[in-house]
Amino acid sequence: MFDSLRVPVIVAPMAGGPSTPELVGAATRAGAFGFLAGGYLSAAALVGQIERTRELTGGEFGINLFVPGIRSTVDTRPYARRLLEEARHFGVEPGDPRWDDDAYAAKIDLVVERRIPVVSFTFGTPIEADIARLHEVGSKVLVTVTTPEEARHAAAAGADGLCVQGFEAGGHRGLFTDDPESPAGGDVYGLLAVLRLVSAVTDLPLVAAGGLVHGADVAAALVAGATATQLGTAFLRADEAGTHPVHRRVLAEADRPTAFTRAFSGRPARGLVNQFSREHSEHAPPAYPQIHHMSKPIRSAAGEAGDPEAMSLWAGQAYPAAGSGPAAEIIERLCVQAQEALGRGGKLFG
Ligand SMILES: Cc1cc2nc3c(=O)[nH]c(=O)nc-3n(C[C@H](O)[C@H](O)[C@H](O)COP(=O)(O)O)c2cc1C
Repeated sequence: MFDSLRVPVIVAPMAGGPSTPELVGAATRAGAFGFLAGGYLSAAALVGQIERTRELTGGEFGINLFVPGIRSTVDTRPYARRLLEEARHFGVEPGDPRWDDDAYAAKIDLVVERRIPVVSFTFGTPIEADIARLHEVGSKVLVTVTTPEEARHAAAAGADGLCVQGFEAGGHRGLFTDDPESPAGGDVYGLLAVLRLVSAVTDLPLVAAGGLVHGADVAAALVAGATATQLGTAFLRADEAGTHPVHRRVLAEADRPTAFTRAFSGRPARGLVNQFSREHSEHAPPAYPQIHHMSKPIRSAAGEAGDPEAMSLWAGQAYPAAGSGPAAEIIERLCVQAQEALGRGGKLFG
């Protein structure tokens, strides 16, 4: 899987706006590969994106889905009380802290019916029956893992490849379970360490993700054994991305650290530190997607008000080194930088 790509770069699925058919189309045309983000969308909205992406790519693209977790029974009311003042500041109420499965079954039916070439999963491994349905229609299954244990589990379930995510990555950690005792939700491995450990437990093709924003980083991950690399943050300011303008602006200012927080969604995710994450992270319960729904009106209102302090501003650790411009130019830059780095690397031990 992915070994025939001219450019071993995958534009990551980025739910919540940044992923667009145009971004995926630009990746395919540049010889790379792109994923649509199925998370948070209704199945009907995803149909529209699939059709548009088909037109732009000729059919070569992937879709990412969120595997539903176990419904948390933690009491979300104290956190709702905390968010009340925040919500009132923007003239809204916190949302209903409901649990849902992100219309998972309908989306599985959809990707099977549309014979999507690659379907990737985050937050767990799909059940073997769903993997079998995808295999029957010729789809490849990629599962996001953050530890060697998750890799073993996904390989045993029948995945065709693993997206290995290091702690540097922007957005949600792909953790199968969220350990409430840990602010990061579980074990924290850097990309090179987890690539090495995962490659010791499986021969499946590995896609490296987390903190890769320069061609030299891409080259390093490939030299370390990855078949391809998946980059999110490197494309957040691409012209074709649907990233919120305020998010783009604070990324470009590059003056904030990143940190893990459950404050926005109830699951650990890496984003730019702002007032909301500073004030609420240590109080946010591990209750996804209840907290996601609860904070949504606040995040939306903050976005409309142009206020970055209460928006979820997902970004990987290396975001200050990421650029902007058409996605094709970003990909071309990555290729040139990777070739230069490989040229330098080839001389090191000679
Ligand atoms: C804004 C944003 C949204 C993301 N949304 C998703 C998603 O919907 N599904 C997913 O599997 N990964 C998602 N990710 C994580 C990426 O797949 C990938 O692991 C990460 O971007 C790699 O690290 P980097 O951002 O440093 O390149 C998201 C990342 C960002 C930055």
